[in-house]
Amino acid sequence: MTTTPTSVTEDTPSEVSGDAAWESLLARLNRQSVTKHFDAYADIAWDDPEMHLDPEDPRWELSADDPLGATDWYRSLPAATRARLGCESVASKMKAGLEFESILKRGLLEFASALPNRSAEFRYAYHEVIEEAQHAVMFQEFVNRSGLDAKGLGPLDRLGARLVIHLGRWFPELFFVFVLGGEDPIDHVQRQALRRDDLHPLIERIMRIHVTEEARHLSFARHYLKRNVPGLGPVRSAVLAVGAPTILAGMAQLMLKPSPQLVARYEIPSEVITAAYTDNPDHRTATAESLRKVRSLCEELGLLRRPFGRLWRSFGLTAT
Ligand SMILES: [Fe+2]
Ligand SMILES: [Fe+2]
Repeated sequence: MTTTPTSVTEDTPSEVSGDAAWESLLARLNRQSVTKHFDAYADIAWDDPEMHLDPEDPRWELSADDPLGATDWYRSLPAATRARLGCESVASKMKAGLEFESILKRGLLEFASALPNRSAEFRYAYHEVIEEAQHAVMFQEFVNRSGLDAKGLGPLDRLGARLVIHLGRWFPELFFVFVLGGEDPIDHVQRQALRRDDLHPLIERIMRIHVTEEARHLSFARHYLKRNVPGLGPVRSAVLAVGAPTILAGMAQLMLKPSPQLVARYEIPSEVITAAYTDNPDHRTATAESLRKVRSLCEELGLLRRPFGRLWRSFGLTAT
């Protein structure tokens, strides 16, 4: 059962307080997972000629709004290289995204394993796992067609991933901050990209499917945190207040900057990376903007209270 993703917004009630409202949110999300879901192969015409992925198609070129795309170094590359770098940049983000979602799926299974019979969260968690599995094969199919032998996460990130998976069971509040840290910046970037009118139809289709289903995942994570964080004890609350900006800074870097593999493959000079990202106030503003929704949620939950607010500033997670 499939439908066309026409809208990129899927509003949910901003306030979910009390058991009845929580149950009704879960019932709605569960219903939407049945009536509005996508299959990576039935719903994308991969072999349609207009979907054909040619990495040197000029539609893959990075735009002047992109931090790297705006540099003289990038603009002076031959047109075919500019396109290929743009295409491989998408592919490497998809590989990082699918590995992030693999951690997410395993953490959700841990989360569900601690739930009792007749729990509405159990059904929701499994819907999300199924949707994320479709996203993984959708992203991997794109990577395979891009020609990039994408590497994905490095050994340190893989080690960190093992810890995050266990949080799903033992500290779900911190786990769902991690979920928002990965999903929110990428959702923000995809919604912005969908406003462009020169997108390749393949990436447009993939992103529309993704933002439609991610709206449910973001909604669940946000409301879960609103419902559960206020009841945490002082130790867990402090761990969450330190963990949130640390996780968000790491995830935003992973999702918004070029991968080391891409930097090496295109021999992007370190001064270009520094000028485009590290020392670029526009990039800092864009990063803070991509985390705006999750930051204001954390603020509402009291996680930016003194002295923890300082961490957000030192990680560059605030606009000023
Ligand atoms: Fe996803
Ligand atoms: Fe998701």
